[in-house]
Amino acid sequence: MKSLVVINACVRQADSRTLRIADPIIAALSERYAVTRYNLPEMDIPPLNPDLFARRGVGEIPEWAQEAARAIAGAECILIAAPFWDMSFPAVLKCFIEHTSLFDVTFTDNGKTCVGLCKAPKVLYITTRGMDIRTGDAREQATPYLKAIGSLWNLGEITTIAATNMDYISPEEIDKKISEAVSRGLEIAQSF
Ligand SMILES: Cc1cc2nc3c(=O)[nH]c(=O)nc-3n(C[C@H](O)[C@H](O)[C@H](O)COP(=O)(O)O)c2cc1C
Repeated sequence: MKSLVVINACVRQADSRTLRIADPIIAALSERYAVTRYNLPEMDIPPLNPDLFARRGVGEIPEWAQEAARAIAGAECILIAAPFWDMSFPAVLKCFIEHTSLFDVTFTDNGKTCVGLCKAPKVLYITTRGMDIRTGDAREQATPYLKAIGSLWNLGEITTIAATNMDYISPEEIDKKISEAVSRGLEIAQSF
């Protein structure tokens, strides 16, 4: 069975609208993929501080980070669920990426530049935004960053599924946007 890595950065956990979109899509994909899921809000991931950085320099990398980096590198599909925070995504996702962007695991170099070692041809990024900010708007800095890290790691095409204006509409409209995003995601996931 092919493998799917799910990176869940939904800090509001059970209250998360982003997860309400992501979970049914993950359930559908799990019929065809073996799922390894990282629930980042439960993982207490620090940024690379001086101590962790020094340890990395002598090859002491946390076991969980090595395992996660290997899972990402070996996955045929990656799904990221993260709400839109401060025009990007929650810091816990950047911390996770900092720990898993590992030389000779997710990327290496060829003497002239960095070369990615991952192989997932497709990445699904699911988000909800409080304001009515569309994917591709200059104020939306999550998709461009994920594309950039995808290019370092050799991930394939990144598809963003976003429900927007969520903080300024009625509960009924929120439900409608969530179910539309789920339908769109399920359709896209069929080609994964
Ligand atoms: C800490 C924090 C920062 C946020 N920053 C933004 C922002 O910069 N732009 C925006 O449109 N919405 C912002 N929002 C609103 C969220 O994007 C919106 O409520 C989203 O639906 C939350 O997703 P969730 O239910 O999965 O947590 C922020 C919300 C929080 C809690």
